Amino acid sequence: MSPIKTKKLKILLSVCILLSLLLFAISTVYLNVGQYNEKLLYGDIKCIDGIFILPQSYAISGNFDFNHKFYSEDIYSKEFCFRTNEFLEENKKYEITLKPFNFKPLSKTLSFVGDKYPNIQKQSKTIGAKGSADFKLEKDISSVQYHILNKNDGRVQCNSKGRKISCAIEELNLEQGKEQKMQITKRNSLQQEEVLKEFNIKTYPELEVVDSKVFNKDTYKPKLEIVFSGDVQEIGGITLKQNGVERSDLDIDFEKDIVHIQPKFKLKHSHEYTATIKEVVGDNKSFLEDKKKINFTTKPAPNFWWIYPDNIQIANIEDKEHLTLVNKERQLPKKYEPQDLVEASKSGLQTKDNIRLRNILIRDLKHLGTAAKKDGINLKIVSGYRCYETQERSYQNAISKNDGNISLAKRVSAKPGHSEHQLGTAIDFGTKKAAEFQSFNTTRAAKWLEENAWEYGFVKSYPERAEHITGYIHEGWHYRYLGKEKAKDLQNSGLVLQQWLEYKTE
Ligand code: DAL
Ligand code: ZN
Repeated sequence: MSPIKTKKLKILLSVCILLSLLLFAISTVYLNVGQYNEKLLYGDIKCIDGIFILPQSYAISGNFDFNHKFYSEDIYSKEFCFRTNEFLEENKKYEITLKPFNFKPLSKTLSFVGDKYPNIQKQSKTIGAKGSADFKLEKDISSVQYHILNKNDGRVQCNSKGRKISCAIEELNLEQGKEQKMQITKRNSLQQEEVLKEFNIKTYPELEVVDSKVFNKDTYKPKLEIVFSGDVQEIGGITLKQNGVERSDLDIDFEKDIVHIQPKFKLKHSHEYTATIKEVVGDNKSFLEDKKKINFTTKPAPNFWWIYPDNIQIANIEDKEHLTLVNKERQLPKKYEPQDLVEASKSGLQTKDNIRLRNILIRDLKHLGTAAKKDGINLKIVSGYRCYETQERSYQNAISKNDGNISLAKRVSAKPGHSEHQLGTAIDFGTKKAAEFQSFNTTRAAKWLEENAWEYGFVKSYPERAEHITGYIHEGWHYRYLGKEKAKDLQNSGLVLQQWLEYKTE
């Protein structure tokens, strides 16, 4: 090789070395750690909390002073997500050394402080042993899985959303009235469990049922009354079950320690029902589902032959006024007489002599009479208000007419005090030709009333095929005034007047 060539080669070599040195120098300038988020936090260091953005790929090593595995998602990446598998100690300083991947001696040390694990506060009061408990976190770490457990190894998973952790304590089935030690734990990514907080939950003592009654075991309006050992503040629900079918459409209200329940639907005759009370809370006590069931059987369908019961009640005329239920079970006070009786002729309809009715119905009766007339029907008023003594006479008349057969008489005439006529709102209609009650049923007038009377506020008290309910044969002539609105309601209900009055007003 010529000396010139050797010299050229030397120069080339020097240039290469210089260039390499220059490149090394340049790379040295840039081989600094770029921006990074130094705020590494508690527990599982999440990617979002520990992203380091570096100008080039690094290998990493940690100088944790405990036997600690230290991972990065991808050591060749410029973005590192560090993970530890253990909790970092609060306020403790940690360092991570980053070394360039090419092992050049330009390492970078990052230091950070283990943050405090967010405080967990108990937020909601625990409802009895069956409630759920809510906890609040200082910071949203809802991605972490929490559990709540108690000494007896009961464990439920808690749901966390935002800063709220909800634990369904009811699933632990804790004993009532006891203080229980509970722990909130957290599972890390290696499924190791750490206790974050310990606290006590005092479960409520038992609220007891001290008495229960079922009133009126009839099919359409039984009433249940349950008396608890303390005041009730909240009811989780009550159901009524029959033949395996459970219904919860019940009217439930409570006052102090008494709960009243009434079904919104019609029950069946001679059927067994079971009312089950779900969780009840009150007075720092709680009552748990299934501890109390109330069984009752509804009355059998009444006999076709109605019998006056032994315990006759006095009809509640003061409160119910013209909506008072008067039947074979309910008697009006002997002296009761409506205060606004007027001559029935005031309605413009033909009447027998000396018939009086309550003034409240005269206007609607007038309209009814006019409408009937328009349809070619001349209605006549055959009977109206009857005092106690008049009823005595009519009842005796019925007995003599039926040759002393009391059973038959009772089907057509009320015993004194039991007649709706004493209310002054019951009318017996007739026509000129059909003044006799029984013959009226087949007249056009009877049909017209059947179809139209309700629109004027009048309803038939003893309809066809209802003797087993009313105790009276079909009286197509006997109408009672409820007022337009109520008469429409009854018409739509499909109930017989007696049922409707009990259901709506009792
Ligand atoms: N005829 C009816 C039932 C009464 O006596 O009132
Ligand atoms: Zn009548």
